Amino acid sequence: MTATPPAATSPTAAWNPGLYDGNHSFVWKFGAALLELLEPKAGERILDLGCGTGHLTAQIAAAGTHVVGFDSSPEMIEQARLAYPKYQFEVADARTFSVSEPFDAVFSNAVLHWVKEPDAAAARIRAALKPGGRFVAELGGHGNTRQMVDALRRQVANFGVTDDETPWYFPGIAEYAAVLERNGLEVTFATLFDRPTLLEGDDGLRKWFEMFGGKVLERFNFEQRGVLLTALETELRPRLYRDGGWFADYRRLRIVARVPVSANV
Ligand code: BEZ
Repeated sequence: MTATPPAATSPTAAWNPGLYDGNHSFVWKFGAALLELLEPKAGERILDLGCGTGHLTAQIAAAGTHVVGFDSSPEMIEQARLAYPKYQFEVADARTFSVSEPFDAVFSNAVLHWVKEPDAAAARIRAALKPGGRFVAELGGHGNTRQMVDALRRQVANFGVTDDETPWYFPGIAEYAAVLERNGLEVTFATLFDRPTLLEGDDGLRKWFEMFGGKVLERFNFEQRGVLLTALETELRPRLYRDGGWFADYRRLRIVARVPVSANV
């Protein structure tokens, strides 16, 4: 995912594959549950949209599929190619990508909340699927990281930054289903659920904002960033620090949709 973030997205700061795989490996480890929804079968062609450093791509391949990983971050793709040289990884943007041969499934974990043009991504996903093909995704859902995002807004306002623009899109079920449906996909399953997520280490909250704060943090110099991160810890500690750890207030939207079998390619 991305100096441009994950596969697909709107602009953030350059992605740091080391920090991603180190303190934030939960991103792809939680994705393992999504693989159960994907049910990859031997011989299928599967696109992993927003593959990051390729760990889930490799797990999809282990089922005997032909898998391709796309990510908008050259840094992430470089790391994925190093870690898994047997598989195909390409730099591509979820809003504009195209494929030469259609896929049986498009899989996407923890990426589409970076895509603030969801119709553009849905249209590309639809175009990449065969008739009967499926789309299986998880992203931050409505209310995701609300406490963290609200605190960020308040704290950057103390520096005189008051525009409300953040790089994330956290839709509810009805909203995202509508996006998919108007782009030719039929939704067959959707769920929105809380998943408080332990952030590794006593500096876990700081590291999370450093990893994912993107363009918001980029506006500040090193010293200001330190002040901002400390203020965020102070504000959020009473709500997000418990039992000796920081918990991000994640809410996930999981969704499965299909191209009708009768659809024209
Ligand atoms: C998430 O995975 O929920 C997330 C990632 C980056 C920024 C905000 C939320």
